[in-house]
Amino acid sequence: MGFRQARYDEPFIRDYHSGSTFFSRHEDLPDWLPKELRRETVPIPDVSEYDVIKHFTRLSQMNFSVDTGLYPLGSCTMKFNPKYADKIAAIPEFSELHPQTDEPMMQGSLQIMYELQEMLKAISHMDEVSLQPLAGAQGEFTGIRIIKKFFENAGKADVRDEILIPDSAHGTNPASAAMGGFKTVEIPSNENGTVDVDALKAAISERTAAFMITNPNTLGIFEGRIEEIARIIHDAGAFLYYDGANFNAILGKTAPGKMGFDITHFNLHKTFATPHGGGGPGAGPVGVRGELKEYLPSPIVRLRDGNYVLDYSMKHSIGKIAGFYGNFGVLLRAWAYIKRNGSDGLKEVSESAVLNTNYLTKRIAGTYEVPNGGVKKHEVAVSSEKTGRRALDIAKYLLDMGFHSPTIYFPLTVHEALMIEVTESASKAEIDAYVDAMINAASEPIENLKQMPKNTSVGRVDEVKAARDLKLKW
Ligand SMILES: Cc1ncc(COP(=O)(O)O)c(C=O)c1O
Repeated sequence: MGFRQARYDEPFIRDYHSGSTFFSRHEDLPDWLPKELRRETVPIPDVSEYDVIKHFTRLSQMNFSVDTGLYPLGSCTMKFNPKYADKIAAIPEFSELHPQTDEPMMQGSLQIMYELQEMLKAISHMDEVSLQPLAGAQGEFTGIRIIKKFFENAGKADVRDEILIPDSAHGTNPASAAMGGFKTVEIPSNENGTVDVDALKAAISERTAAFMITNPNTLGIFEGRIEEIARIIHDAGAFLYYDGANFNAILGKTAPGKMGFDITHFNLHKTFATPHGGGGPGAGPVGVRGELKEYLPSPIVRLRDGNYVLDYSMKHSIGKIAGFYGNFGVLLRAWAYIKRNGSDGLKEVSESAVLNTNYLTKRIAGTYEVPNGGVKKHEVAVSSEKTGRRALDIAKYLLDMGFHSPTIYFPLTVHEALMIEVTESASKAEIDAYVDAMINAASEPIENLKQMPKNTSVGRVDEVKAARDLKLKW
């Protein structure tokens, strides 16, 4: 298999750039416009609509997307965004809603947000949910700010200044804790790939404000001792924080509230199939239990006397974390996805995600090392070490075969890691094609791998230069 993408240097694109014409509108400018702001020429290309359409369609084909092919980016959970949700989000009464519309005029939209809060509460077993945060990482930051404010109010902010985080955690966890003003303490994993509970007990002290953990973890392994961990953390007077990025492994099976967590964020763009964007714009609602309800960012949507209202009255609220009421377009899509699936459907989502991962793991295990063995949940991290090929080179091979590469070199606990998450969206045929490509990559001559990718719009980039010499605009 192989496919060809449009190249930037093809004749149409070259001509488009060199053939630009310039025209002057200088004499049309009004007298009041200051001279220094006037331009003699405006470089607008003189091309037909048909040429513009071809140009932008070609550009769009140079990219890879969830609608183009398998995107098995472990931990980032890139899955199909169903088109019914896009259609609902495009209804003008929603898409043209002004954020300052009066509450009586936006009852339908408030009802959607209220229902989403209620559904997320039921799914997570949390007591209250705020839809404010705009991404998973912002949800983490929100949770961390809540913990900080709680200990400030208790007069213990100076003492409770550490957040414990497992070594398999996503990088945003320690980043959010540090941004929230905490020191981070790394907890090692044991040989099973789960939290070393003895190391956790040794690290915990009166300084501990929280333990931040995702379950199943980034190796796709369920932390079976989570209830014991919850007891240890609570006995020490600290909070247990649930990174909800891997929620698609447990929907309808268990819930953070049942496991003993106090705070959780949801990555709506991962779990409920809303668009991911490049680091956003997504939505990362936060749920809490018990007394932490009063600390949530405002507003919360409430139903009072048959009317939906925005409530800003939480006694200790950390304030606003995003403009207005969050990322409504994304919230709307998540609401549609949950409603359409229902509780049985969501359970099936998790079952399919876990089944797909284990099918892939079983097929790949002869060629790649699968650390920690056992049954995986929603994702698996394999090592390419025994193939004698680097994870980076395998990833480039996969690009040439028309797949997006998996996440590589993460988690840090696996050497030459390829972290694969096909999600519930992939069909058996697609998983088989992907596994075949991974197996073929393991016997492809290394000198060939080093030349790849050849079929993509951009060939192999200098990874070091790309990381060290950042050019984020031109
Ligand atoms: C385990 C885990 N936690 C947190 C995050 C951060 O989520 P977001 O991308 O929504 O900011 C990710 C993102 O990839 C993740 O995989």
